[in-house]
Amino acid sequence: GGFGGQITVGKIGNIKDGIKQGGGFFYAAEARSWITEYPAEALPLAETVYPESVLSSMREGIVVLSQKCPHLGCRVPECATSQWFECQCHGSQYNRVGEKKAGPAPRGMDHHPTTVSGSGDVVIDTGTVVVSSPANGNRETGCPDRQGL
Ligand code: FES
Repeated sequence: GGFGGQITVGKIGNIKDGIKQGGGFFYAAEARSWITEYPAEALPLAETVYPESVLSSMREGIVVLSQKCPHLGCRVPECATSQWFECQCHGSQYNRVGEKKAGPAPRGMDHHPTTVSGSGDVVIDTGTVVVSSPANGNRETGCPDRQGL
């Protein structure tokens, strides 16, 4: 299926390799999503913030983010220098796991529910958007911050 359905974007091991090769960011074009590493040490706090549909892939070490800026919908690009996502439209900034850090966006980046099958297939439900609440979107879960600042 295309965007709007369940999309298998690859095996978990290949996705993690792709994140490394992409300097911290993997772009799943067909799912219009970014995938980055979710640090295991941040999981205990994440468990108090995110719903199960988001947590299940975090437990596998990845976080899946809609590319659509929660401000006014621009495609949010990654920034290799800052290791954040930085929207070019009005300057909203999100850390590498999509938590809002600055700008006019009302919350952190939205998620698509994602599952990892027994055989390691990463399947993104692109027809469902898990909207972060403003509180959750602004919550710091101990993930890597802007380098050098
Ligand atoms: Fe991204 Fe406005 S659409 S900051």
